[in-house]
Amino acid sequence: MSVSLGDLTPNNIKQLKVLNSVIFPEKKFEESYYKDCLEKLEWSQLGFFNDVNVGGISYIEEEIPENKDQLRVNIKTLGVLPAYRRLGVASELLKYVFDNCKENEKIKEIYVQIQQSNESAINLFKKNNFEVKEKDQDAIILIKNL
Ligand SMILES: CC(C)(COP(=O)(O)OP(=O)(O)OC[C@H]1O[C@@H](n2cnc3c(N)ncnc32)[C@H](O)[C@@H]1OP(=O)(O)O)[C@@H](O)C(=O)NCCC(=O)NCCS
Repeated sequence: MSVSLGDLTPNNIKQLKVLNSVIFPEKKFEESYYKDCLEKLEWSQLGFFNDVNVGGISYIEEEIPENKDQLRVNIKTLGVLPAYRRLGVASELLKYVFDNCKENEKIKEIYVQIQQSNESAINLFKKNNFEVKEKDQDAIILIKNL
């Protein structure tokens, strides 16, 4: 039994759409989201369990407002199909992002915004050394300084 990763391509982007619709049924992903994914294919990655595509991650790089020479990564989506959770797929997908960040010394932080109630995701990010940066009634922002 093994976890592996694969690149997003114009041919398999529909797979990401299917995954997102199952994993995030409440979210509406605009076409522009997928257009951005296609334009920067390396900012997404698919996760496989025993060669079956069961998850994916997508992020963007953006300037840090206070210091425009520096960049930060915003994880937009990270999801794994329910039947394949707790098998390490999301951890591998996060590692993909960490490895990409190491390639660019301008990237100084990674952050993600999730719902306060999303305990599994909060545990996952904390396990990967993210810290709570901001909280409001619903949402929480977790950040990892590089
Ligand atoms: C959050 C999510 C991506 C985790 O995916 P996953 O592949 O199951 O995560 P992993 O197997 O890599 O888990 C790694 C660690 O995260 C923590 N974790 C993950 N799911 C957990 C849960 N349900 N309860 C408690 N801790 C959890 C644990 O520390 C776990 O390590 P362990 O299994 O050795 O205890 C998955 O639950 C999911 O897709 N949720 C819905 C989408 C979502 O909320 N995404 C959030 C970011 S946009």
